[in-house]
Amino acid sequence: MKILITKDYEDMSMQAFKIMKKVVTERPCATLGLATGSTPVGMYRLMAKDHAENGTSYKKIKTVNLDEYVGLDRSSGQSYISFMHDNLFDSIDIDHDNINIENGKAADRKAECERYNRLLESMQQDIQVLGIGSNGHIAFNEPGTPFGSVTHIVDLTESTIADNARFFNDPREVPKQAFTMGVKNIMNAKKILILASGSNKAKAVKGLVSGPVSEDLPASVLQLHPDCTLVCDEAAAALLEQVRD
Ligand code: GLP
Repeated sequence: MKILITKDYEDMSMQAFKIMKKVVTERPCATLGLATGSTPVGMYRLMAKDHAENGTSYKKIKTVNLDEYVGLDRSSGQSYISFMHDNLFDSIDIDHDNINIENGKAADRKAECERYNRLLESMQQDIQVLGIGSNGHIAFNEPGTPFGSVTHIVDLTESTIADNARFFNDPREVPKQAFTMGVKNIMNAKKILILASGSNKAKAVKGLVSGPVSEDLPASVLQLHPDCTLVCDEAAAALLEQVRD
């Protein structure tokens, strides 16, 4: 795993943006695997700025998002599809037909998982962006998720519900379930870019980099990926020093 430790969140976002821009420039029809959460927002802002100022085009780019809350769709401001429109899609020239994410409102959830798996089989991510949960989850693959998992529905853990409550007016509004790409779908990406910022991620980052590869800490599976880059700020990297000792 390649590790870039940056001074702060802004610098992390800039380094991540540079990696993303290289993919988009070298392959204008690339498939980008995208993530929600506060961590990638700075990178998305830089992508939008670069599009506005330098005309970097996303017209032929396709996207696949990691996850979506069960029960929420575009009409809900808290859905991940709304998040992606607000933070990126509405600020670039992407063709909206090329945007892919699980349908949180799907009536037949099993069929929706199967649809998404078929889609992912037909379009390998050239790059997959990831954040990391404070408990080491990636997408919504919570501790204990099998590494062989594909798109499925998960019951969110109490810690994830608490972490994500800040996006909702009332913590009781946080959905208890979500659709998520599985670990296997994520590992299938050609390149992985995982971002982490802040001291609340330090323990998970330590496990990601140097813990045992274990389903107890889903992000640790990335140690097995042939092209994974971690970009994290000093606060998130705080425990890595001890690892090197
Ligand atoms: C959610 C998302 C993850 C994300 C995580 C961390 O659980 N499903 O994809 O990595 O939150 O979020 P944040 O970046 O806000 O810390």
